[in-house]
Amino acid sequence: MKKVRVGILGCNYMGKMHADCYGRMENVQVVAVCDINEATAEAAAAPFGAKVYTDGKALIEECAPDLLDICLPTFLHKEYAAAAMGKVPYIVIEKPVVRTVEEGEALLALQAQTGTQVGVGHVIRFFKEYEYLKQALDEERYGRLVNLTLRRVSPSPAWDWASWRKDSGKSGGAILDLHIHDIDYMLYALGEPLSVHSVKNTLGEANSYVCTACRYGDFTVSVEGTWFLPACYPFNMYYRAVFENAVLEYDKGKLWKYDSEKGEEIILGTAEAASVSFGNVSELGGYLEELAYFVACAEQGAPITRATLADGVRSLRFIIEHCY
Ligand SMILES: NC(=O)c1ccc[n+]([C@@H]2O[C@H](COP(=O)([O-])OP(=O)(O)OC[C@H]3O[C@@H](n4cnc5c(N)ncnc54)[C@H](O)[C@@H]3O)[C@@H](O)[C@H]2O)c1
Repeated sequence: MKKVRVGILGCNYMGKMHADCYGRMENVQVVAVCDINEATAEAAAAPFGAKVYTDGKALIEECAPDLLDICLPTFLHKEYAAAAMGKVPYIVIEKPVVRTVEEGEALLALQAQTGTQVGVGHVIRFFKEYEYLKQALDEERYGRLVNLTLRRVSPSPAWDWASWRKDSGKSGGAILDLHIHDIDYMLYALGEPLSVHSVKNTLGEANSYVCTACRYGDFTVSVEGTWFLPACYPFNMYYRAVFENAVLEYDKGKLWKYDSEKGEEIILGTAEAASVSFGNVSELGGYLEELAYFVACAEQGAPITRATLADGVRSLRFIIEHCY
């Protein structure tokens, strides 16, 4: 079987996690990795015997991987994605896809010229518990939605290279870097709201708290995100969906359904993935599913239709227009 040849740009937090995922896929060979910190690149390359680069454009030119995975700080995404378009058939870009709407539009224009397939790391779409909610919404399995709460809260990330996240001009701060996960899911699951009211508190570094309330006809959605928490505070991704006939609640890695009779846990078979712990993300489940999907597209020569470049730019535009 011919393996999908993968190159990774940026080998710290997310690059390491993606490499860990690729290492679990039989149809992938990580052929090259790049980081301006050579020791970081060498450590990521070692398990694969991959070629080490400190210049991402040299990797693109010399290795021409089937799939290039960009795990660089957000403000560098556009430059390296643009350099790869037309040279690499498949690109994965971590979220947020780029820092500004103008950069997003430039990549969309390049994609139209080159036909390069681009997937964006909007990983929540690939978590089984969030897929379950999406299906329940689509099928009206528990009746109509009444309200939905989405939450992602975390201490300010402390691992980043040269403290790039603390600079909102580079990362977009919590409003972009963190809040976009749930905003993207909301747009994916429910489409555009009729009205939006977003408030933020810039106390602390890089705009640290944001709460976005949306009205959709006969239901409402509220989305909360913050980095303004002490370092010991546990990372939490959470949802509560109140339907006419039941409530679905996802909290601390568990999904519960409550109806008029009882509350019961719903097990979705993520136990294997849940046994893997990495940083403050308690499971690789969604990351494995997401990257396996993009790899499968590259293997089959198929278009990427989930978490596309257009989706990533749409979610970025929503944040920039409504949440700042
Ligand atoms: N999907 C998620 O859940 C999730 C989680 C964390 C981060 N992210 C996203 O992933 C991206 C990377 O974040 P991170 O936390 O891994 O950052 P990081 O700071 O941990 O790692 C960035 C790496 O890029 C390297 N680097 C910097 N400039 C470079 C250059 N010009 N060429 C090559 N290497 C260079 C640094 O040395 C560092 O090793 C960001 O866009 C971030 O928003 C997504």
